[in-house]
Amino acid sequence: MKFFVDTADTAEIKSLAASGLLDGVTTNPSLMAKTGKKFQDVLADICATVPGPVSAEVASTEFDGMLAEARVLRGIAKNIAVKVPLTPDGLRACRRLSEEGAMVNVTLCFSPAQAILAAKAGATFVSPFIGRLDDVGEDGMQLIRDIVTIFGNYDYFKTQVLVASVRNPMHVVEAAKAGGHICTVPPAVLRQLFNHPLTDKGLAAFLADWSKTGQRIA
Ligand code: G3P
Repeated sequence: MKFFVDTADTAEIKSLAASGLLDGVTTNPSLMAKTGKKFQDVLADICATVPGPVSAEVASTEFDGMLAEARVLRGIAKNIAVKVPLTPDGLRACRRLSEEGAMVNVTLCFSPAQAILAAKAGATFVSPFIGRLDDVGEDGMQLIRDIVTIFGNYDYFKTQVLVASVRNPMHVVEAAKAGGHICTVPPAVLRQLFNHPLTDKGLAAFLADWSKTGQRIA
């Protein structure tokens, strides 16, 4: 499974990139707004830090506007993936951009039917938002299972399932069980993946016992 980090916070991205665990980054207009910085500077910094796909979302809701904004975004760095909403104009833009060779991430996916449309539009990635479905009492992870099953039925569907709106480590584990190709994870949740109290307890015991030997590995 590939891990993308879901943030536009360049300090967080730089810190996590050092772990060697980051395969890409996803941003969205809300995450970008939180930075308080010019989007061009933020995206250029992120793309220089993480060589994998960096998703940057258009703000236009119209086909022509999306194409124009996509060209601006793609001009920032070669590893930009253009994010478009799962709307008729968004999928029309997805088709055109993918035909031009762009990476396209179709976002705000909440149903298997929508995911099929994204795959038919030639999306590189489709982003089902599992946390937001859970938030309204639906089964977000079942959406992942359904999409993975459907995509697996057609070898010409090349779209990668980019599991998004991840709220906790179990979302990551269950998404992997479901066969999601990528999880985009908030920085705090990524860090939680490392944690287990028995690891901490076991390491402390090893170090305590080792210190009694008086030896140094040198
Ligand atoms: O950035 C896309 C998605 O991961 C955002 O999810 O629900 O945390 O805003 P959410």
